[in-house]
Amino acid sequence: MNSSTIDLLKIRRSVKPMEMMGPGPSIVELDTILTLGARVPDHGKLAPWRFIVFEGEARERAGEIFARVFRDKNPAATPDQAESERRKFLHAPLVIAVVARPKPHAKIPVWEQELSVGASAMNIVVAANALGYVASWLTGWAAFDRDVLDALGLAADEKMAGYIHIGKPTRAVVDRDRPVMSEIVSRF
Ligand SMILES: Cc1cc2nc3c(=O)[nH]c(=O)nc-3n(C[C@H](O)[C@H](O)[C@H](O)COP(=O)(O)O)c2cc1C
Repeated sequence: MNSSTIDLLKIRRSVKPMEMMGPGPSIVELDTILTLGARVPDHGKLAPWRFIVFEGEARERAGEIFARVFRDKNPAATPDQAESERRKFLHAPLVIAVVARPKPHAKIPVWEQELSVGASAMNIVVAANALGYVASWLTGWAAFDRDVLDALGLAADEKMAGYIHIGKPTRAVVDRDRPVMSEIVSRF
């Protein structure tokens, strides 16, 4: 039994980007994280996922897109609100966007392909934690807004599964309440 994997899964929890700081993963660690994101169950080997890496100045360029689209669609927004959108990717040193790119297939429904995308995102979260970082898998309006997705280079048939923010925690990580197992487990 690999008890370190169990121990990691028992204590892992998300940390908000605002509670993250650098440094982010090294080039080698990032390569490991992305490689493991692509090492998930994938019916038919369709690779229905791809990743976009935002580091350094790329996080600022993404923020300009978020702020521009946000202002266009919320003319009554305050400068503070637009600024908060502009800073969305600046809290964590690294953000990985997980993009779903399901392909029409006679035997493999899109649902199965989307489940594989979720597995990919979770592998990225777990791999980042195993390397000593924390992570947060977030969506929010910018994961669903077509103008944002276009500006980030997503094709019309691609969807955003989420933005995974990765960094070091600024303070101790406290767990949250977990489901009562007897309420979600039954025997048939
Ligand atoms: C697809 C997906 C999208 C999410 N988007 C958000 C989000 O936009 N904002 C948020 O506060 N939490 C979001 N969450 C929840 C967090 O990722 C995380 O589950 C939660 O903060 C605590 O879970 P944990 O401590 O077990 O990691 C999302 C989760 C998933 C699976």
